[in-house]
Amino acid sequence: MEKEYFAHETAIIDDGCNIGKGTRIWHFSHVMNNCIIGENCNIGQNVVISPEVVLGKNVKVQNNVSIYTGVICEDDVFLGPSMVFTNVTNPRSAVNRRSKYEKTIVKRGATIGANATIVCGHNIGEFAFIGAGAVVTKEVLPYALVVGNPARQIGWMSEYGHRLVFDRNNVAFCPESKEKYELKDGKVIKIEK
Ligand SMILES: CC(C)(COP(=O)(O)OP(=O)(O)OC[C@H]1O[C@@H](n2cnc3c(N)ncnc32)[C@H](O)[C@@H]1OP(=O)(O)O)[C@@H](O)C(=O)NCCC(=O)NCCS
Repeated sequence: MEKEYFAHETAIIDDGCNIGKGTRIWHFSHVMNNCIIGENCNIGQNVVISPEVVLGKNVKVQNNVSIYTGVICEDDVFLGPSMVFTNVTNPRSAVNRRSKYEKTIVKRGATIGANATIVCGHNIGEFAFIGAGAVVTKEVLPYALVVGNPARQIGWMSEYGHRLVFDRNNVAFCPESKEKYELKDGKVIKIEK
């Protein structure tokens, strides 16, 4: 059967991968065995996707990103250029910790900025936004905007990627989509239209 995704001639796809229709994999990238990659993803140049990684639909992976075993990215996740995942908290070259890879889930719609580092085992909530160069050492709430090292929350972001400014009734509107959000008990929820 003809494959329904595109892989540049310099890309290497190992056995057992399941890659969705419309996905594009660019120069010098390597998808290792048994990965599941959803439809319409874009895997940039010089990307390494380690064995058994799972990516949802429409995940955008910019150049020079390594996605290690234990990482799951849900639909619509954006991984900025040269951002870094980890999968062992206390690596030692002489100690084999292959059976102890930690899991990191990047939830639907989240963005990770250029050059950010995600210390493993800390999930990134839906539509969270990690600023360029941040070092994430804790779980990140849905819609939270975090920056710096260690990453601290400085605000909230809409699904369209705009700062949410809450009024005294704890309501905010995205300036682009006009969608309404509410801040309740320290968490942001989108109010369905
Ligand atoms: C986090 C981000 C979205 C904030 O944008 P913004 O809302 O326009 O924020 P501002 O530029 O008004 O900055 C607000 C404050 O946060 C600081 N800040 C902004 N981005 C920061 C970052 N990545 N790390 C540390 N501090 C940051 C600013 O210095 C400013 O601090 P101040 O109030 O003390 O002056 C943006 O700076 C960013 O990092 N975007 C990611 C870009 C990226 O990686 N793209 C990848 C695809 S090319």
